[in-house]
Amino acid sequence: MNRRRLLEFATAAIGAAMSAVIAVPLIGYLIAPALRAVDKRKVKLLDDLRQLKPGAPLTAEYVVQRKDGWMLADEVRQALVIGDGRGGVTVFSSICTHAGCSVEWKGTQFFCPCHDGRFDLNGSVVSGPPPRPLVRLPHSIEGNRLYVEVEA
Ligand code: FES
Repeated sequence: MNRRRLLEFATAAIGAAMSAVIAVPLIGYLIAPALRAVDKRKVKLLDDLRQLKPGAPLTAEYVVQRKDGWMLADEVRQALVIGDGRGGVTVFSSICTHAGCSVEWKGTQFFCPCHDGRFDLNGSVVSGPPPRPLVRLPHSIEGNRLYVEVEA
């Protein structure tokens, strides 16, 4: 190997090392969120499922901790709980899928007061601007208690 070839090789090796020093952390930064396991935890929603009446949804509140920058704050959310009278339960988020207002049960439908959106008991859009049905929340039942699963 002559001197010219040695310098070419050394220059290429230094360039590759400098590229790796920049690229490896950058790639790690970009793909880390996709590889991070989502940590879920259960939050109690109802103490006693026997209070559910078929066709009469209950609004229940639960608290999640939300990280906003360096701050960790409690956030109160609402869920709409519907019992089928045979032990089956459906839980919807009360957040309207149009612009995020809170929907409420009005006798025969869920009603969103912001733009007159309406949903049926299955969470499907009946009328108004909401583009999608209400979001179903994963939940579990232990004894007579109802829990929702939230991201920790
Ligand atoms: S936010 Fe509910 S209809 Fe617009």
